[in-house]
Amino acid sequence: IPVDPFVLVIFGGTGDLARRKILPALFRRFCDGQMEDNSAIIGAARSDLDTAAYRQMVREAIVEFGQEGGSCEAGTMEAFLETVHYVSIDARGETGWSELAGLLDKLPGEERVRAFYFSVGPSLFGDLAERLHCHGMAGSEARIVVEKPFGHDLGTAKALNKTLAQHFDESQIYRIDHYLGKETVQNLMAIRFANMLFEPLWNAQYIDHIQITVAETVGVAGREDYYDHAGAMRDMVQNHIMQLLCLIAMEPPAKFEPDAVRDEKLKVIRALEDVPAKDIVRGQYLESDDGSKPGFREHVQNPESTTESFIALKLHISNWRWAGTPFYLRTGKRLKSRTSEIAVVFKDAPHSIFGAEAGRHCNILTIVLQPNEGIELGVTIKEPGPGGMRLVDVPLDMTFSEALGPEAEFVPDAYERLIMDVIRGNQTLFMRGDEVEAAWAWTDPIIAEWGAREDTPVAYDSGSSGPVEALALMHRDGRRWREIRK
Ligand code: BG6
Repeated sequence: IPVDPFVLVIFGGTGDLARRKILPALFRRFCDGQMEDNSAIIGAARSDLDTAAYRQMVREAIVEFGQEGGSCEAGTMEAFLETVHYVSIDARGETGWSELAGLLDKLPGEERVRAFYFSVGPSLFGDLAERLHCHGMAGSEARIVVEKPFGHDLGTAKALNKTLAQHFDESQIYRIDHYLGKETVQNLMAIRFANMLFEPLWNAQYIDHIQITVAETVGVAGREDYYDHAGAMRDMVQNHIMQLLCLIAMEPPAKFEPDAVRDEKLKVIRALEDVPAKDIVRGQYLESDDGSKPGFREHVQNPESTTESFIALKLHISNWRWAGTPFYLRTGKRLKSRTSEIAVVFKDAPHSIFGAEAGRHCNILTIVLQPNEGIELGVTIKEPGPGGMRLVDVPLDMTFSEALGPEAEFVPDAYERLIMDVIRGNQTLFMRGDEVEAAWAWTDPIIAEWGAREDTPVAYDSGSSGPVEALALMHRDGRRWREIRK
């Protein structure tokens, strides 16, 4: 279904995010007929380009980074590029602002949705908001999209919220966390709230613990400076993993509507207990065995760096539903494989009628977020054969692409969904200001404590499952991490 005609201005239109994600996502939506050709995209950046040169850059970006190399029906690329314009602009000066305002007025068609994508560092958010306001582009119909990192801590996040609030209402601000745009992350809500099977058991009475793993194989190349100041806690836990945790742990919202969902997520964050140092393991990757990939400290060119490229934590959510059920989270760079999954481990049956020799068995629901999106339910059955009542755990396995057919093999990129939601005016999958602040309020004391104690991360091998200390974090509780699948 096509969305209403729109104009999307991308500040930072020549940058990495625009080239890798935003422009290819718009192109896919155009190929699918969701973006009508009377919509327009305006790249805005400092580079002194004209529209023809920018269109060439857009074409190359789509071929390089778009799915299937940007292929589409013949002529579609040309039609898409016709919708693209460029304005050279100085976020901190006056250059280009009148041209941008003039171009917006000149584009044919009325009543278009106007969205401004701040694909720039947060230090420019205030300047952009101010200039949009001064040049009459920050009216009540405008929407702005802002990227992470949304602040470095609670203080900076509050300052950013305050700056944006000077010119825009909360209903106009779309804070992106691209994990919320991932198909399977949305499926978490479908699995929980569209099935009768799971929700009655979804609590501390039946669930022993929940594990969330987001493992990556990449290092921090190309983002050394940012990453050495951020670390896995700020880069992944405060936002992406926090969002996963919220969707897994929240109460059922009354409706799938922005504030209903965000209110419930906020309650989870506010119910998070402080985490003692003994429940956290931080790690830094070592050089790869063959020496071809540098270790973390060499990578960031900081031999003294105490920033973590891996973190594992055990959390508790202090509320009626979850009291007593721990959540174990881990994420890291340069691990064994790129795998993200959530495992819900149910308690053992309260009494085994088969006796002690049948062993202990429990059901595990695994939601695989990437790659090979799907769900797997571990069930216990009788081992075939005449040898008595021997029990064995087997998976009921469903890969979405197998269950839904070839159509489902094409998983749209998170940005496709999220940008279209901005145009539709649907904030359900975007973070509200208070949610971001609450997440920082929980994160800050943990990070401060590392500083006070001069904590140093432990080393782990490249291509491993992370430091052994992270394994011990679960072993000491009589539990173990799920294997990071290859
Ligand atoms: C980004 C982080 O937000 O998410 C990166 O800054 C990380 O460090 C990336 O690699 C992971 O996203 P995805 O979609 O590849 O899982």
